[in-house]
Amino acid sequence: MNVLVFASRKGGSGKSTLAAHLATYIASPTRRTLLIDADPQGSLSFWHKIRGNENPALRHGGRNLADAVKAAKRDGYEWVLIDTPPDKSATVVEAIKLATLVIIPMRPGVFDIAAVQDTVEVARELRKPYAAVINGAPPKRGDHEAPIVADARGALNALKIPVWAGQVTHRADFSQALTEGEGAGEFEPGSHAAEEMERLWTAIDRSMKAVHSAYARGARSAA
Ligand SMILES: Nc1ncnc2c1ncn2[C@@H]1O[C@H](COP(=O)(O)OP(=O)(O)O)[C@@H](O)[C@H]1O
Ligand SMILES: [Mg+2]
Repeated sequence: MNVLVFASRKGGSGKSTLAAHLATYIASPTRRTLLIDADPQGSLSFWHKIRGNENPALRHGGRNLADAVKAAKRDGYEWVLIDTPPDKSATVVEAIKLATLVIIPMRPGVFDIAAVQDTVEVARELRKPYAAVINGAPPKRGDHEAPIVADARGALNALKIPVWAGQVTHRADFSQALTEGEGAGEFEPGSHAAEEMERLWTAIDRSMKAVHSAYARGARSAA
């Protein structure tokens, strides 16, 4: 099973947004997907209520996350996405403990990098793979990213924090889709927003496969 955890102590960085959009890409009848809304603010739960279907399914509550993930495995879920509160609470640490991969969304900006570092520290301590994703970025001009995005990337590289090579641009489609209970690809198939989310999903899927084979190699060499 794959457990993706969205974490950053910074509110508004895009945890709930990325979790909801990605879940709609992942979920299919043959790829059972569960969202766990571990944030008392309940953004994902709100979205899920509007959505009104179980594809992906949703479970609300940040208590006993380990039991929730165990139950998900028993129930045949292939993917679990955990959205966490914007703080450094025990809930966030427990979620990261359960992660196959930690996604750290960040807006390009100085204060956001400090927040990313806090989450990275926890992930490193718990030896969990992680990657930052730049969200809410100004649009690219042709192939050129905005200077603020390039600066953020530079700062992350200097700190040896892996960051997704793409960007999630600030687009009305991302927030409007959510108000309809949809993901970007459902809201407007083929849109720039849909394309970006699909690219992010492809990158995450590839990383997850790499993480699983690294674990398998580790298990073999430990045996
Ligand atoms: N790429 C984006 N484009 C447009 N709006 C966005 C984007 N990412 C996030 N938002 C909006 O910003 C706000 C905060 O995002 P959210 O996902 O709730 O952050 P977090 O869960 O980290 O607190 C929401 O209103 C959301 O719709
Ligand atoms: Mg949120």
